[in-house]
Amino acid sequence: MLQCHIDATTDPTIWQEVLREGARLLQAGELVAFPTETVYGLGANVWDAEACARIFAVKGRPEDNPLIVHVASLEQAQDVVACWSEAAQVCAERFWPGPLTLVLPKNPAISDVVTGGGDTVAVRVPGHPAARALIAWAGCPVAAPSANISGRPSPTRADHVWEDLGGKIPLIIDGGSCAVGVESTVLDLSAERPVLLRPGGVTWEELREVLPGFESGGSEFEQRTTAKSPGMKYRHYAPRAPIHILAGAPEERVKEIVAAVQAKKAPLGLLCFTRTAALLEPWVVEALDVLKVFADDDGVREGAAELFAAMRGCDQENVALILAEASERGQLGLAYMNRLEKAGE
Ligand code: TXA
Ligand code: MG
Repeated sequence: MLQCHIDATTDPTIWQEVLREGARLLQAGELVAFPTETVYGLGANVWDAEACARIFAVKGRPEDNPLIVHVASLEQAQDVVACWSEAAQVCAERFWPGPLTLVLPKNPAISDVVTGGGDTVAVRVPGHPAARALIAWAGCPVAAPSANISGRPSPTRADHVWEDLGGKIPLIIDGGSCAVGVESTVLDLSAERPVLLRPGGVTWEELREVLPGFESGGSEFEQRTTAKSPGMKYRHYAPRAPIHILAGAPEERVKEIVAAVQAKKAPLGLLCFTRTAALLEPWVVEALDVLKVFADDDGVREGAAELFAAMRGCDQENVALILAEASERGQLGLAYMNRLEKAGE
């Protein structure tokens, strides 16, 4: 097992060696964990059905939950689909490389193992240059789910991958913290009109700019998601402790935090935004076993980027209950709330 850390300060020849080793392992039918701008992926050569099947075994992933195929370029995306549409072209030009996954009719050569037996395939060009170099050097599209044990919070740092998969795969490429921190947006373009299957790093507001009339959000989105994206029906993103979402008025949120601190018999964690943290008295802060404060930035950027790491941090402190503050559902807040609600189910 090799875990290599590479970042902007790393000598380019070391980058090259690590990525070439990853590419060699993929070609040899092995699994490789690699950084993307969203979360870490657990990759296999898409043309090697046996290697792809091993992804499900290693993660404990249900077999009907299809994998996203990662490609290095728009041209390579066209190798895995049966037909490329105008909408696909518009989205790819605007958002690739980046956190948008497109679901399209599959090229029949793509194994049922990858697509969960379905006739569509999910494809994206990741934004992280290490991911694209790995795929380009492997010379094949790379099927990759998030590199966590199924049901656990997705990994946004290499040590999260190590926690879940250490000892089970031959290489974890460490590219530092993932900038986006929630998974890609999954957009179904295989039907007559576009359907948002999973909110993610590309926001609904951004999609609407290029897909006029595109609607989403609210309960209709939830229903469609469950029906069409097999992965969304399973328990997801969950830390060991139950999650209680603080969604009331600001003073209600503070009251709930104080009540939980007063009733506390076991370690307690709080994930909240700056404005709420500022309302807490020092004795309340003192009594918390984990406190993670997300910036009140525009678009819930930091909350999304750090949510999964914060959940894992609570696990490490053996927290018995996590209080997590709701955000607005605009921009990355839609993905933040989706992950929080799934984790709390
Ligand atoms: O950001 C990401 O998307 C990360 C990185 C590694 O790229 N990957 C990721 O993969 O989140 P995973 O396997 O954890 O989630 C893939 C999601 C699941 O909800 C799955 O059901 C859906 O994409 N999906 C994959 N293929 C599909 C298809 N053909 N039709 C509908 N949904 C599909
Ligand atoms: Mg996942």
